[in-house]
Amino acid sequence: MTATENRTPVETVTVSIDGVQVDVPKGTLIIRAAEQAGIEIPRFCDHPLLKPAGACRQCLVEVATPDREGNVRKMPKPQTSCTMEVSPGMEVYTQHSSEVADVAQEGIMEFLLINHPLDCPVCDKGGECPLQNQALSHGRATSRYIDVKRTFPKPIRLSTNILLDRDRCILCQRCTRFSSEIPGDAFIALQGRGGGSPAYEVHGLHGSQVGRFDESVLDFAPAEGGHADLHPDPTLTGPTGGAAILGGLDAGPTGYAEKDSSGRPFASYFSGNTIQICPVGALTSASYRFRARPFDLVSVESVSEHDSSGAAIRVDQRRGVVLRRLSGDDPEVNEEWITDKDRFAFSWQTAPDRLTMPHVRDENGELVPTSWSDALDVAARGLEAAKGAGGVAVLPGGRLTLEDALAYSAFARRVLGTNDIDARARASSKEEAVFLSTVAGSGLGVTFTDLEYAPQVLLVGLEAEEEVGNVFLRLRKGVLAGRVKVATVAPFLSRGAAKMRASLIQAVPGTEPDAIRTIQDDALSLIREGLSQPGSVILVGERAGETAGTLSAAVELAKATGARLQWIPRRAGERAALEAGCLPGLLPGGRTVADERARADVALVWQDARIPAEPGRDLQEIVTALRDGELAGVVVGGVDVADLPDPAAAREAFGTAFVVSLEVRASSVTEMADVVLPVAPTVEKAGTFVNWEGRMRPFPQVLVSYQQPDRRVLNELAGEMGVDLEMLDLRDSVEQVTNLEGWSGMRGSFEPVRSRPAATPGEGEAVLSTFKLMLDDGSLQDGEPHLAGTAHRAVARVSAGTLDGIGATPDDELSVSGPAGTITLPVLVTEMPDGVVWLPQYSPGSHVYEQLGARTGQIVRLNREAQQ
Ligand code: SF4
Ligand code: SF4
Ligand code: FES
Repeated sequence: MTATENRTPVETVTVSIDGVQVDVPKGTLIIRAAEQAGIEIPRFCDHPLLKPAGACRQCLVEVATPDREGNVRKMPKPQTSCTMEVSPGMEVYTQHSSEVADVAQEGIMEFLLINHPLDCPVCDKGGECPLQNQALSHGRATSRYIDVKRTFPKPIRLSTNILLDRDRCILCQRCTRFSSEIPGDAFIALQGRGGGSPAYEVHGLHGSQVGRFDESVLDFAPAEGGHADLHPDPTLTGPTGGAAILGGLDAGPTGYAEKDSSGRPFASYFSGNTIQICPVGALTSASYRFRARPFDLVSVESVSEHDSSGAAIRVDQRRGVVLRRLSGDDPEVNEEWITDKDRFAFSWQTAPDRLTMPHVRDENGELVPTSWSDALDVAARGLEAAKGAGGVAVLPGGRLTLEDALAYSAFARRVLGTNDIDARARASSKEEAVFLSTVAGSGLGVTFTDLEYAPQVLLVGLEAEEEVGNVFLRLRKGVLAGRVKVATVAPFLSRGAAKMRASLIQAVPGTEPDAIRTIQDDALSLIREGLSQPGSVILVGERAGETAGTLSAAVELAKATGARLQWIPRRAGERAALEAGCLPGLLPGGRTVADERARADVALVWQDARIPAEPGRDLQEIVTALRDGELAGVVVGGVDVADLPDPAAAREAFGTAFVVSLEVRASSVTEMADVVLPVAPTVEKAGTFVNWEGRMRPFPQVLVSYQQPDRRVLNELAGEMGVDLEMLDLRDSVEQVTNLEGWSGMRGSFEPVRSRPAATPGEGEAVLSTFKLMLDDGSLQDGEPHLAGTAHRAVARVSAGTLDGIGATPDDELSVSGPAGTITLPVLVTEMPDGVVWLPQYSPGSHVYEQLGARTGQIVRLNREAQQ
């Protein structure tokens, strides 16, 4: 039973709004009840996903309720409909039926506009502005204000990405409430009191303003001492001169690593949502400001390609150029929130290194542009030769749509006759491959809504905020509502985990299986009992597959407690790759390669498929076989060599074999490829992502394109090699998807794997822990300097004991050395086990796989580097 199925039925209340009777659940706000009755009440601060604030006063209505004798009496003053709940027998009179409400709303609008610049012609919000619209519908035709309007220097640069024009701000507090209620981040706050017309010296306070706690911007005088009772940050000054309080109340002080690249504390992965919910043009982004008018934009509903959430987005383009992306509204998935990466990272699709022509390597070893027919011919002949000389493998990458992934799977089985296919362009294991065979074809599993109502959630190998932002937001929502408890198996409590009030089950990398088993012990009985409640969930991230025995321990715990088990990968295409059978032991629809009936069933759709009965090679085996000459060729999709656990080995392998690369932009693979076939990015094709829930997320093509999706290019290449994949049209691919799903035969079964002894560091050594931060050096964030400026700074985390052990201090830098080299970063002393060091996996200055040649759980050397 899911936790959502377990919810109690709601009591309803009948109210009358402008004479319309409406039944709504008890506790409904008047403004929501009016929506249900089809009556619009003007509003600014109200937002259905934020707590009521009553800040703007625009939603005033007249309210009458029955007294003790049952006589319905009007309240003496108009009430804010966004803060008052309905009650039985209530009568509400909005501006449509009450002159009092109408006059009150008009008065509020007049006050809101007194200091408002009304520079609509140059304002980014002009044309889609609630203030502009409601001033027309509910305001006076002319202004009676004749004095000089209050102005501010503008704009304030809140971060490299977000700018604030305070004179347009109507102090609705949507932005500040969002920052504290939804992601719980250090952000902006409402400061000062009143209108602020008199000089600062007169009252010691500025007028009410939104801003950062930054004395250089708001002129708050720095003062000695002062008092702040919750997580004060002594480096910043609050409005009364004391140390400022920043961040979510559960998250603790904002540390070095949580500040942006300039060192400022606006370090939120979700900051762009404030721009979208700001009801005026006060908040804008550096990348979109003054770029377009809303009425010039063509908007298309789409799905984000950045993580496995499958977040609904809106893509706005003008004359074939994408100018911005907004959050879509999908209550089942991302509600109305997306990450800054979803919102701002889209120019990678039009980067200058975008491939526009096929390329082949000439006799001088140079990649030269050529025609499609020539490139397909060279690729086909090369692949045929490689097939004869040992075989060809397929590495599709983890960012594909279901239709594209199916084309790679079909190409491997129908054209190349191999099971040597692995979409996991990351560290992985055989244990994980077997586990994933139980995930494939399992349909919609645990959902976002289930997470919001799960009594206990255990995270294993998953930093939700960094890896799948919307999962973090949904969990935090459940935690703040008092419904969800979160525990995490990790070496340290990350800021994201702290914001979910997570209990830490501390584990040195490599000891996760033991840590999970301690949940069965009495010491962690609360978590065990929580997991035994209906609806509880164990979420395993893709990193859980890196340590032998971790997934086995998670499966064992799920069986013992009855908790549901859900796999959450990081990349958008990983789940689709499973469904399409892009693993060495998997066929489409959750069928397994070793099952004869499953192979025969696939052959009913792919009649020419020659599927070997043995599972193929996985990523690491493919790389080794290419390097050793056992395999002679490889077809590579969107794979970055730096993501592979051994980039040097992959380079050697790709340098030896015949490589056909299907890519959007020039990459570390295309530079070694023999044939490069350009493919369309997400915005230039239609398709279906499958999110971590197993939910289909179809999206349409936004821009006209000269490039083709991977599936069409593979269809052409297969045709050149004598096989018709029948995937030219999206409709045909979807038909194949439909024909291949719904397998009711044997599925993969999980065999537990024994954990291996964890590595023990010697003197001056540590066990490496690493994962990717949301904003890092990833190529899908290229061309977005404003977004990059909000990335968390790269630090090396160690315990105070570890630091002591090498004679270093927190002011030193730490050199971490592995077989391939050294990474040197500032130290961040963190509560974590001694003998462990954490590095960001792919942040500026910290490309762990390339620079260290080491992975999570391996031993690295630590050295002190005195700061210059
Ligand atoms: Fe005009 Fe709205 Fe911009 Fe104000 S916020 S200047 S009303 S478009
Ligand atoms: Fe409201 Fe926008 Fe002002 Fe924030 S900046 S308080 S969202 S008007
Ligand atoms: Fe009700 Fe702002 S919408 S007070």
